[in-house]
Order: sequence, then structure tokens, then C-alpha cells
Amino acid sequence: METIISGDINRAAELLRAGSLVAIPTETVYGLAGNALDTPCVAKIFAAKNRPSFDPLIVHIGSLETLNDFVTEVPEAALKLIQIFWPGPLTLVLKKKSVIPDLVTSGQETVAIRMPAHPLALELLNKLDFPLAAPSANPFGYISPTTANHVNAQLNGGIPMILDGGPCKVGLESTILDCSKAQLRVLRAGGISIEDIEKIVGKVDIANSSSSNPSAPGMLENHYSPRKPLYLGNPQELIREFSEEKIAVLSFEKKYHEHNNLILSAKGDLAEAAQNLFGFLRQLDQLNVDKIIAEEVPNIGLGRAINDRLRRASKK
Ligand code: TXA
Ligand code: MG
Repeated sequence: METIISGDINRAAELLRAGSLVAIPTETVYGLAGNALDTPCVAKIFAAKNRPSFDPLIVHIGSLETLNDFVTEVPEAALKLIQIFWPGPLTLVLKKKSVIPDLVTSGQETVAIRMPAHPLALELLNKLDFPLAAPSANPFGYISPTTANHVNAQLNGGIPMILDGGPCKVGLESTILDCSKAQLRVLRAGGISIEDIEKIVGKVDIANSSSSNPSAPGMLENHYSPRKPLYLGNPQELIREFSEEKIAVLSFEKKYHEHNNLILSAKGDLAEAAQNLFGFLRQLDQLNVDKIIAEEVPNIGLGRAINDRLRRASKK
């Protein structure tokens, strides 16, 4: 199958209406989208990504009016967050209605929903009369794509179209917040900081990462990984330790190594670092090196989500 890469929204809508998959841009990362209400279409998403069916998908909507079609209730705290952060990188886990197929939610009684902020994604969603299930458009376990080319490098031939919306502005996946129980709980740190959420709804729980947590497999310990082993720690020490080997370095603000050292944000800006993270990991992964060395960034705001991805990408 030849994969078309284009910004043609009408073509994307036609393909989706016909039950095909289309990779779509969002403000976080590119998603591999299909009709969320059509089980065979959802099955294609799992197959194209080589994703285990116990890992549920996020449902994307284009307008707030449709939310009640898919969930049984929207608690007050969720509604407050929606008013402030939607459209945007915040996914809410809510109790689902039966129109949402079991395959989307891996049989759970809850569904993860978000309204993406990318203008092309929103326009596309509003042309369709169904919501889009869309995981990140990468093979299961690999780094998420933040450009159309990243998607093409890995899913080329497997899907008919990649809707090109340019590089993703946020660069990290959405924050996932479980609002289905009385105590709100962050299941995945992401594009909206936990601090910003807590300003609106007060203290929230934060789920621990675990390799055996069935309710949030995106939290699997070995996720978002480059193929080359990544070592997270003090770059100077690691460079010394691996002095006999070919290495690449991913650092926050400053350079530690003459060659193959990418800097996430020379001005120390966490939003810029988030934007660069996945693209830089891919670049380093493609170099002729044995190991990638990386350092954590300040553990505040978006830095928590960046560190979360770095830890999962790293060798334990
Ligand atoms: O920014 C994003 O969220 C991107 C873009 C494309 O929207 N999507 C994304 O999807 O990151 P994915 O499939 O890579 O990660 C979705 C995560 C999974 O880890 C899954 O476990 C969790 O959402 N999830 C989905 N439904 C859930 C549910 N009902 N309860 C708990 N976690 C859920
Ligand atoms: Mg993913």
C-alpha cells in the first residue's frame, strides 16, 4: 500500500468514513486514528501498531456536545478541568456508555477521552460523525512520533495516509487523569503539568509506574524506548565509565561531549525540551553509537513528564 503524506483533510475524512486508518497530527504526538465506534476498525489499529489488546485506547472528540454520548457522567472536577484545559493535552478517564466498544477500553468500564488542540485534528473531528480512537502512531514500545516523517519511517506501507500537520507543538503525550473515582489520580504525566491541574482541583494522587499495572499499560516500565540502550544519570560519570565505547549524549542545557551531544534546550526551557525530546531520541538512536547517555531535567512542571519518559526509555 502506498502511503500518502498530505494536509488534505477531506481525503483523510473520506478514508476514515470508509473504515481506513489515518495517522493524524495532534498538539502532543501523531496518532494512528480510526473510527472509535467501529470494532473492526479499532482492531486494525491494534494490528498496525502490534499493540497488545489489553492496552486501551484514547477516544478523541471535536466538540464538548458529544461528550455525553460516550460517558455516563462528568463529575464536577472533570468539568472544571475541561473548561480550562480543553482542547488540549489532558485526557480524562470517565465511566463509559455502551456505544464505546469493549476493544477500545480493553473491557474496562471506563473510557479515556480528550479533545486535541491541533487545528487540523479539530477540523477533521468536526467533519466526522464519530469520534476517533488514536494511540500514538508508533510501533508498540518505541518512541512516539512528533512529525509526519517519524510516522512514515515506521508505519510506511501499513496505512493509506498520514495527515501532515507539521511538527507537534507540545511533543509529549497528554496527561491522563482518572476521574472515574472520588479521588482523582494521575495515570500518566504529560503535556499539562500536575501543578496546573492541582491549582484547579486541589491535591491529586499520582499512580506509581509499574510493569504489571493492567489499568494503564502506557505506564509500562519499558515504554518509549530507543533501540540503543539508554543510560540515565550524571553524564560526566557515564562518559567516563563508557570511555571505551561509542556514545551519544542527550543533555538538558549544556554540552558534555564533543560529538553527538544534543541539547534539549540551551536556555533551560522545559517546554522547548519537551518539544525536542522524542525527535532527538530518534536522531541519536540512528547514529552509529553503542549507547545513549542522558540526564534528567528539573523535576517540575513539564519536567516531570520528560523525566518519566527518560526513565522508561532507560536501561534499568
Ligand atoms: O497525547 C496523547 O495522549 C496521544 C495522542 C495521539 O492523543 N495518544 C496516546 O495514546 O498517547 P497511547 O495509546 O499511546 O496511550 C494511551 C494511554 C495508554 O497507556 C492506556 O493505557 C491509557 O491511555 N488508557 C486508555 N484508556 C484507559 C482507561 N480506560 N483507563 C486507564 N488508562 C487508559
Ligand atoms: Mg503510546
